[in-house]
Amino acid sequence: MTAVEVQQTSLYLPSLAEIVRTEQLTKMEKLLEIKLKSGQDLGHQPGQFVEVSLFGIGEAPISVSSSPTKKGSFELAVRAVGNVTKALHRLEPGALVGIRGPFGKGFPVEELKGKDILFVAGGIGLVPLRSLINYVLDRRSDFGRVLVLFGAKTPAEQLFLKELAQWRESKNMEYWETVDRTDGQWQGNVGVITTLFPKITIDPQKTVAVIVGPPIMYRFAILEAQVKGIPDDQIIVSLERRMKCGVGKCGHCQINQVYVCQDGPVFNYAQIKDLKEAI
Ligand SMILES: Cc1cc2nc3c(=O)[nH]c(=O)nc-3n(C[C@H](O)[C@H](O)[C@H](O)COP(=O)(O)OP(=O)(O)OC[C@H]3O[C@@H](n4cnc5c(N)ncnc54)[C@H](O)[C@@H]3O)c2cc1C
Ligand code: FES
Repeated sequence: MTAVEVQQTSLYLPSLAEIVRTEQLTKMEKLLEIKLKSGQDLGHQPGQFVEVSLFGIGEAPISVSSSPTKKGSFELAVRAVGNVTKALHRLEPGALVGIRGPFGKGFPVEELKGKDILFVAGGIGLVPLRSLINYVLDRRSDFGRVLVLFGAKTPAEQLFLKELAQWRESKNMEYWETVDRTDGQWQGNVGVITTLFPKITIDPQKTVAVIVGPPIMYRFAILEAQVKGIPDDQIIVSLERRMKCGVGKCGHCQINQVYVCQDGPVFNYAQIKDLKEAI
């Protein structure tokens, strides 16, 4: 291997990529559609993340939000919270970013085949779940029932409105949604996401629950899945931790012996339920 080839395959060396489309999803979240300058596909699994860098500003881990079935480009949905993410929001088509990855263990797509899947998405948790939901919808005959429960704080904070509109009408899936607080015009369910569980009937042995949301949601959503009879090893979560290297070297994301960036971010609940501070 030449020195140039070694450099190009380095885990630490970002690949150059171009923003090809942006879309303001909500006040706080913006979608970035990105193409690698090499012309290659990202080659990710649903649930994996990339490290996105902006020259002179920094780097942040962001989940890939598009399905690997989408070829030629990939999508990130970014919430503006600090230096890197606010700078990402200022980018327009044509801007260049650095991309490392994809990193981490994604959702166990092969194990999900033939199963009923109960997706539980809280707020920005829909970003990584959307990758898997769209993958499953694109390979619909490989899977059993597809149920999606989505909760946002308010109607204005709902992400991916066009897709939500399709999911509401779709005969390929069963979709329920709720908001914590109404805006006065909202016609749907009001209440936290756990208020949707009593509305669904599932076969717990056949069902895998895939839960992604803010830290506070996990404990309650996992409990509801358990009340439905879903075994702990059929409850899948994705953990978010502070990360730097993304590749198991720096220890920033470590919880005891587990490196979330490398062993996760996707885990089944049986693997992590005894891990203090994981959930
Ligand atoms: C595996 C993984 C996947 C992620 N996927 C996404 C995604 O798809 N979309 C998205 O918008 N964000 C995602 N994040 C969170 C994102 O990485 C952070 O918001 C980002 O690193 C913040 O960087 P910053 O420079 O903009 O903010 P900073 O300037 O570093 O911090 C600004 C504020 O945000 C807080 N903060 C910083 N990092 C985090 C963090 N990791 N979690 C919570 N609070 C933090 C700080 O305490 C501070 O209050 C993900 C994180 C991980 C670990
Ligand atoms: S982010 Fe460096 S070890 Fe996980």
